[in-house]
Amino acid sequence: MKVLLVNGSPHKTGCTYTALEEVANSLNKNGIETEMFWLGVEPMAGCIGCNACLKTEKCFRNDLVNDFLEKVPTTDGFVFGTPVHFASSSGALTSFMDRVFYGRRSLFENKPACTITSCRRGGSTSTFDQINKYFSMNNMPIVTSQYWNQVHGTNPEEVKKDLEGMQTMRTLGNNMAWLLKCIDIAKKSGLEYPKNEDIVKTNFIH
Ligand SMILES: Cc1cc2nc3c(=O)[nH]c(=O)nc-3n(C[C@H](O)[C@H](O)[C@H](O)COP(=O)(O)O)c2cc1C
Repeated sequence: MKVLLVNGSPHKTGCTYTALEEVANSLNKNGIETEMFWLGVEPMAGCIGCNACLKTEKCFRNDLVNDFLEKVPTTDGFVFGTPVHFASSSGALTSFMDRVFYGRRSLFENKPACTITSCRRGGSTSTFDQINKYFSMNNMPIVTSQYWNQVHGTNPEEVKKDLEGMQTMRTLGNNMAWLLKCIDIAKKSGLEYPKNEDIVKTNFIH
């Protein structure tokens, strides 16, 4: 079983990475394979709503979004990490999430996911809510921990001193591993995923 951990920070090995690494170590201890996926520092384009991807299943812009989408079918769970930028996720992660999740329920549904946030002082809970919405709109079980999935700091050394934050990351890894194993056992015992109705869309105009 494999979990992809997305680092939405411009700092490859900064605070967000430090928190993600703690989750990854905890997953590894539970026998789960992990892979880090860094968004880098190049500009991340936002979704232009052209709907081309609904036919091709890829974004017309061939960048990290398509690299990530190729990995999804062989991935069992996801951790999305972001620094807090003005009480929201980084601009790069917001653009990435919009393009990754647009029209892709069938690719992601039933796969567990969670958010982790890294901030100096405040705005982490609104960021946490923002990113969790991508999962709640796509039939994805959201993995929780013992408290808010957040760490505090302006550099990795400070983050490591946030003992509660780091413990929260380890608990999150344990909980993700446990849920993945539960799903695996359920699949092997023949339990089917929910059969959902065709989606009804009403736009509040009639
Ligand atoms: C553009 C920008 C906006 C930020 N806004 C906030 C904020 O609203 N609240 C906060 O506590 N920290 C804020 N910070 C600080 C970072 O969230 C914090 O230092 C974080 O841990 C850095 O993680 P990183 O090393 O992975 O990038 C901001 C930093 C930047 C660059």
